[in-house]
Amino acid sequence: MKSLEQSLDNALIENIVTRTVDELTPRGLFNFNAPRQTLMGEGAILRIGEMLCHLDVSHVLVVADRVVHEKGLMQSMRRSLERAGIEFTIYPGITREPDETVVVTATELLTRNNADFVLGFGGGSALDAAKAIALSASCQSSLQQMAEPGFSGRRVIGLGAVPTTAGTGSEVTDISVIMRADRQHKFVIKHVDLMPDLAIVDPGLMLNLPPLVTAATGIDALTHAIEAYAARSSHPLAKALAICAVQSIAEALPKVVGNGGDIAARLTMATAAYKAGLAFSNSGLGLVHAISHQIGARYSLAHGIANGILLPYVMRFNALVCQHEYAAIAHMLGVTRAGMTEREQCMASIDAVRQLLSDIGLPGSLTGTNIRRDEFSAIAAEALADICIRDNPREVTEADIVQLLEESSSAKENL
Ligand SMILES: NC(=O)c1ccc[n+]([C@@H]2O[C@H](COP(=O)([O-])OP(=O)(O)OC[C@H]3O[C@@H](n4cnc5c(N)ncnc54)[C@H](O)[C@@H]3O)[C@@H](O)[C@H]2O)c1
Ligand SMILES: [Fe+2]
Repeated sequence: MKSLEQSLDNALIENIVTRTVDELTPRGLFNFNAPRQTLMGEGAILRIGEMLCHLDVSHVLVVADRVVHEKGLMQSMRRSLERAGIEFTIYPGITREPDETVVVTATELLTRNNADFVLGFGGGSALDAAKAIALSASCQSSLQQMAEPGFSGRRVIGLGAVPTTAGTGSEVTDISVIMRADRQHKFVIKHVDLMPDLAIVDPGLMLNLPPLVTAATGIDALTHAIEAYAARSSHPLAKALAICAVQSIAEALPKVVGNGGDIAARLTMATAAYKAGLAFSNSGLGLVHAISHQIGARYSLAHGIANGILLPYVMRFNALVCQHEYAAIAHMLGVTRAGMTEREQCMASIDAVRQLLSDIGLPGSLTGTNIRRDEFSAIAAEALADICIRDNPREVTEADIVQLLEESSSAKENL
């Protein structure tokens, strides 16, 4: 007969063995986070009142882009909210990429009005501000605390997003990009609750976006798609969304830059930005974003313009380990021919990105900016500390980044 000690020992050993096996077995898992609801299409904004009624919202704080507000793009939303009997307060204070001051001011407004829902309305700047406000007000935490690894606060205030640019995909990402008080540095807050509950994507709100902003934001979406497709943490679902976004952007971006009133092409771009946003939020980005966050902040370069300049140089650098992925991208960009080797297809994808930049009038080098060579090492060190670097497919050193900055600063415009 077994003694009590022997039975206990056997049970303990069995427990350790099964737990170890259970922990080691799952492989290649991925989590997928997305808004609970999306309404997309021309006129979608007219349904916002109904959508918020279903969520039992009583008072909405609308965090809006100043220009979008002044252009009267919020009238349909107003009417829909009024018809649904939902109270709202508009904070049209987003005039640039958000910093702590804006978040603190809007959070006070939220508390004063007892709002139970925050709606971002505008480009990535307004949406990122709204997301940070909803989380920060829910858990009474500063942005710095929210950016710390392991931050455990949860959002209890509802969150929605209405993009008016087709670029960042912030309406479907769990990220908020914030400027430090010195406005020389940006940081990224990543948190599961920064994913909006509701995304309303209406291409009708994008019709008057100027060509340069259309081009820059569209290239941001392309960069998301390409970086997400090749990211270390990419997975089949992210890849499917990303590659589909590349194809749509190649088709629709030149059209919307050339004819901003083309509603069908605007919808294609809005859908592509959405897909690329979901792809990168659930997989990762890479070296383009790690560097562009730094130079965008230091030299006041629009996010999409900085990404566009860096993208072909980073693709050339990553090509060593991404030949297969970039060949697939070339296929979607429509630049492959029968008989091409995979390496030729890979290089064709980089040339196609350069050509697209040139076609839509975006700069192909940093020469026209006020970037300073004596700051390259500092920029490189900061890029290595950026959250986006983790998913770059190729190992990167400080010297590599300095070299990339050298190349992109000495090249002629629009190679
Ligand atoms: N959260 C994310 O997942 C994510 C991803 C990528 C980038 N970002 C961040 O988003 C910010 C950039 O966002 P963005 O590129 O959309 O630019 P933006 O929000 O700063 O807007 C760019 C310009 O377009 C104007 N504008 C916006 N919509 C308009 C419209 N419909 N008609 C006319 N003018 C309009 C704005 O007033 C502004 O001048 C950066 O801070 C970037 O780091 C966030
Ligand atoms: Fe981006």
